[in-house]
Amino acid sequence: MARISRQQLITYEELDSTHDLSPDEHTTWQAAREAAAHAYAPYSGFCVGAALLLSDGTLFRGSNQENAAYPSGLCAERTALFGLAAAQPGHAPIVGMAVAARPTGGEFGPALPCGACRQVMLEYEVRQGQPISLLLPSRAGTVLRFTSLAALMPFNFSADDLPAG
Ligand code: THU
Repeated sequence: MARISRQQLITYEELDSTHDLSPDEHTTWQAAREAAAHAYAPYSGFCVGAALLLSDGTLFRGSNQENAAYPSGLCAERTALFGLAAAQPGHAPIVGMAVAARPTGGEFGPALPCGACRQVMLEYEVRQGQPISLLLPSRAGTVLRFTSLAALMPFNFSADDLPAG
């Protein structure tokens, strides 16, 4: 069997600053920063906020919530998505998402979702059948803009991989 070398491209935009964000994006970006203030992160000292913008203009926020039994905590991205789905069943589609992070009492820096969060983020996008745009602060201090969460999670696990009931 032939060995085929393949490449997969990830498309995103990189913005020098938040000045180039649309008003909706700016609101979502700010909401993620505000949400980080509600993190419960006494063990890592790393406060993360996530914000979801719905098509009806609603903003929903999440933050990382830690626990003395370390693995029992949860990331900001998942508290936002799980929290929205649990609290507002039938909510309007999510159109935008942003993440922010900073050390407790420190400056905002990069916030790149972990693999488990990417997996969960993607499934909510697939579930609602329309793309969610995403803003992330990069390690370089720029803003990364994705038009769909799918770009972050190639080769993901999905319901299609489960045996049919
Ligand atoms: N954390 C998030 O909330 N989101 C991420 O994408 C990465 C990590 C949290 C989990 C934990 O409370 C702290 O940051 C340190 O890992």
